[in-house]
Amino acid sequence: MDCVLRIFTLILQAGFLVAENKISHVQGVAGSEIFLSPHIPHGFTIRDVFWRHSNEIVASHIQGTTQTIYQSRFFERARLLNNFTLEISGLEIGDSGIFTSLLVDIRGHMKQNEFHLTVYEPVAQPAVQVFASSSEEDGKNCTVVLICTTTNGSNATYTWRADSMEQDRVISNEVTFDGGHILKVILAPTDQDTLYTCTVNNPVSQLNTSVMPWNSCKFHSGADAEVFSCKMIPYLAATLILLFIAMTFWVLLCTRTKGKSRQKEKQNVEGVLLQHTPDRPNQDAAEDGPQNV
Ligand SMILES: *[C@@H]1O[C@H](CO)[C@@H](O)[C@H](O)[C@H]1NC(C)=O
Ligand SMILES: *[C@@H]1O[C@H](CO)[C@@H](O)[C@H](O)[C@H]1NC(C)=O
Ligand SMILES: *[C@@H]1O[C@H](CO)[C@@H](O)[C@H](O)[C@H]1NC(C)=O
Ligand SMILES: *[C@@H]1O[C@H](CO)[C@@H](O)[C@H](O)[C@H]1NC(C)=O
Ligand SMILES: *[C@@H]1O[C@H](CO)[C@@H](O)[C@H](O)[C@H]1NC(C)=O
Repeated sequence: MDCVLRIFTLILQAGFLVAENKISHVQGVAGSEIFLSPHIPHGFTIRDVFWRHSNEIVASHIQGTTQTIYQSRFFERARLLNNFTLEISGLEIGDSGIFTSLLVDIRGHMKQNEFHLTVYEPVAQPAVQVFASSSEEDGKNCTVVLICTTTNGSNATYTWRADSMEQDRVISNEVTFDGGHILKVILAPTDQDTLYTCTVNNPVSQLNTSVMPWNSCKFHSGADAEVFSCKMIPYLAATLILLFIAMTFWVLLCTRTKGKSRQKEKQNVEGVLLQHTPDRPNQDAAEDGPQNV
């Protein structure tokens, strides 16, 4: 075993000095896998293959035997395919670095390929917070500060875009802070429907979130306007409903009592009429009296 290791070391060192270098830059996504395929020149009949990362051997193929059981950080994550492609699964940020493949042909000639791997964590959906200044009067400009944040993503960059229904609104008076993830902009009343989009991206991913910041601008013309803010509407509605119910009850109660008293009145009137009926002839006579007289 020691002997084999020494041969490896020799070959690797020799490879470093002799082999043709071919450098490729590759990007990996954290959590997923990557395939590194060495360039095999035409007519190059491979006998041995060695894959290393920094100074650790990751995989080998010697005289027909493939081996990936090395105490490297890629233990149980590395696989050497039949075409000498190295597969690394479950990528981690720390896997970033230089991978080298050394190919040895049947005559002992060597070819070396270098892969500069950078592993990135994909970005998460960004969240945009809107902070708006409140203005004294309606129809005035409104200053807003937009903060775009993402929870995940290595080497994320932030970019902003403004889109209006009517025209292609170009962000003109904006200022960005903190690497672009904070945007300060003065909105004019014509920007009511302007959509601001924050795009967060890194070499392996890109996501965006849009907001309409004008909706967060508050305008009030005085103290009265403040009292009738939107928060008051439910209370106002509840009061009105209660008032309506009370009124309905009162009206119902009134009509019922009125109905009863009207009935009583009717009875009284009938009673009076009944009482008066027997007297009627006398009355008539009394009334006719003067005529008769
Ligand atoms: C090597 O083989 C794998 C699967 O067997 C394939 O996906 C990959 O494209 C091959 N690479 C080359 C360079 O042929
Ligand atoms: C963010 O990263 C954490 C830990 O790395 C992970 O558990 C979570 O699923 C990731 N969230 C998203 C949205 O990718
Ligand atoms: C990514 O960020 C790390 C530290 O967060 C830094 O060391 C590295 O240079 C950055 N890479 C790129 C390509 O910007
Ligand atoms: C409002 O903003 C526009 C440009 O967007 C500017 O021309 C105008 O002077 C501003 N008005 C006030 C009252 O700040
Ligand atoms: C936001 O992302 C979606 C989906 O990837 C894309 O269709 C859209 O064009 C993006 N919007 C902007 C303003 O970049």
